[in-house]
Amino acid sequence: MRDQAVELLHKYLKTEYLRKHSYAVEVVMKALGEKLEPEKSDEWAIAGLLHDLDSDLLDYKNSEEESRLHGIKAVEILRKENFGNEYIYQAIKAHDEYTNGVKRKTIMDKAIYAADPITGFITAITLVYPDKKITSVKVKSIVKRMKELRFAAGANRDAMRSIEEIGIPFDEFAQLSLEAMQGISDKLGL
Ligand SMILES: [Fe+2]
Repeated sequence: MRDQAVELLHKYLKTEYLRKHSYAVEVVMKALGEKLEPEKSDEWAIAGLLHDLDSDLLDYKNSEEESRLHGIKAVEILRKENFGNEYIYQAIKAHDEYTNGVKRKTIMDKAIYAADPITGFITAITLVYPDKKITSVKVKSIVKRMKELRFAAGANRDAMRSIEEIGIPFDEFAQLSLEAMQGISDKLGL
């Protein structure tokens, strides 16, 4: 299942940093899935990997109408490709409620909503370390940077903190996400 998901990712998503972002969300989701819904952790990983599948195909900047299709279009592609299931589709659509209006319902929806921004946030923190290596990053700097609202201002603190709604304290989430991303540092180029 994962091989096919990677194939689809490479077929539709050409932008390098978006692919890296997708791999990062994949490993964070996998780790969260193993904790919260172990029997479905492969689906959690796939949802993470493919959540931004349509990002190269929609003109977010110039078309409000197209930006509202984020997630919806990704699911359209996956249906056409005969890949995935309704649980995965729902999480992909609900990962960005602000653009398409699809509400978060399942525990996986809630997890991906928090996992998406924390990957960019950890990347931004890594890049201000002197050696720019993710293996040097400490959980306590993630926690500290959460309070510095001017740092990586685009990273949605409320979304990241909403992980607590599904029973994971933020510090634990930060640690799990950091370790997951450290495990694929080469792939992330960090
Ligand atoms: Fe994303």
